[in-house]
Amino acid sequence: MLGLVVRLLAMPVMMGAGFVFAKPEQIRSDQSPTFHYYLQAYPKNASIVALGPAASGEYFNIDGTIQSTNTSLYINIGSETTSYKTVTFSKTAATTAWGLEGDTIITTKASTFGRRKPYLYSPPTLQRNYWQVYFQTGSAVPSGTCNNYQSLHLPCLC
Ligand SMILES: *[C@@H]1O[C@H](CO)[C@@H](O)[C@H](O)[C@H]1NC(C)=O
Ligand SMILES: *[C@@H]1O[C@H](CO)[C@@H](O)[C@H](O)[C@H]1NC(C)=O
Repeated sequence: MLGLVVRLLAMPVMMGAGFVFAKPEQIRSDQSPTFHYYLQAYPKNASIVALGPAASGEYFNIDGTIQSTNTSLYINIGSETTSYKTVTFSKTAATTAWGLEGDTIITTKASTFGRRKPYLYSPPTLQRNYWQVYFQTGSAVPSGTCNNYQSLHLPCLC
């Protein structure tokens, strides 16, 4: 019963008009080598969106914007000319394209980005146990990384 309630709360798209989706969620990777690392600000530069240890993971409201309920900062996509864009925490909500597809974080089909996913690359791009999040629109990758893409998800609801 509890499992069903949690699953329904995580699918705002299926709710009737006027329903407020208020449950803050953690965001994580569900695959090796980043399995059980959670989304948070990078401790050495709080504007960098990173996957890091579970104990310091933040909670987020995902509804067009992604806002941390811990810091109130929004996650925005950069405007670099490379196919991969930086993803940063900011006080203003510049990116309103975020949504969910099942438990997967995406930009919505109707947005200017189309349906795409933010990605992590392996090995860790920041330091041991910290992976920087990028948004990919093509095939170029940040230097020092390989093509081991990992998408981002809500914690398993099954
Ligand atoms: C922190 O990261 C942002 C985004 O990548 C960058 O623009 C900024 O220069 C960095 N700040 C420092 C102090 O390194
Ligand atoms: C973020 O907020 C949640 C809910 O209040 C709290 O349980 C968690 O410890 C906070 N995380 C950090 C890293 O402060």
